[in-house]
Amino acid sequence: IKPLHVAELRKMREAGEKIACLTAYDASFALLEDRAGVDVVLIGDSLGMVIHGGNTTTPVTVDDIVYHSKAVAPHLKRAFLIADLPFLSYATLDRALDSSQRLMQQGGAKMVKLEGGREQASIVEYLSVRGVPVCAHLGLQPQFIHKMGAFKVQGREDAAAEAMLHDAQVLAEAGADLLLLECIPAGLGARITAESPVPVIGIGAGAGVDGQILVLQDLLGISPQVTLGRTPRFVKNYMPGAVARGEKGGLIEAAIADYVREVKSGAYPAPEHCFDLPAGAKP
Ligand code: KIV
Ligand code: NA
Repeated sequence: IKPLHVAELRKMREAGEKIACLTAYDASFALLEDRAGVDVVLIGDSLGMVIHGGNTTTPVTVDDIVYHSKAVAPHLKRAFLIADLPFLSYATLDRALDSSQRLMQQGGAKMVKLEGGREQASIVEYLSVRGVPVCAHLGLQPQFIHKMGAFKVQGREDAAAEAMLHDAQVLAEAGADLLLLECIPAGLGARITAESPVPVIGIGAGAGVDGQILVLQDLLGISPQVTLGRTPRFVKNYMPGAVARGEKGGLIEAAIADYVREVKSGAYPAPEHCFDLPAGAKP
């Protein structure tokens, strides 16, 4: 088994093969995800919510991400490992470089992810020219929760949509090797992807992107949000399907493999997982 890298992800996009991504935070799930065919594993700062139990991602530190990356990285034979740069860990060029160095050298990440639009372009370029692959996270940016007040769909107004399209272009030109779009109208996700020179991963960004990502605990139906009845629209619980098929051992691995299969076939996301699609429309 050969490990995936950035060029491979680009080839998948060119070949029209959807990229299946999933978060992981420990060795047990890292192994299962790698075996189930997940292409990209993310150490997301969502760990502040699904592992540490907070209401936001802002308390997460570089130490936290390194800690979980160290648990995951050694168990990925094929999957490509991305780690989130947490809140304010890339507030200056120096801090961005320092934080990225730790995520890659200590954590074993092969790419770092940061939130923000064109205002992050100088940081993306600074990292990229030094050999740090960067994923730029646009749309809903959970690290801005204390400015936004609530997590909500982004890019619904024309001006915001145009600004996001422009941000995507600027970030790719600055050297971003991957874009991630969170919680935006499906049509905007497709437009940004069509105009992007690099692969685009979506979460709640419709089916017209190059790949999908979910938070592991959402896919398993056990995240605090799901348990408390606040399941986001884009979330699909893959456990009932695996149970219904009569999977005996390896239920969780089967559920993850189902997710990978549905991302590859385009069955996920279905219209009910997408924002701003007219009833009956194809995603
Ligand atoms: O932190 C995270 O898990 C993420 C994904 C939701 C994209 O950023
Ligand atoms: Na994140």
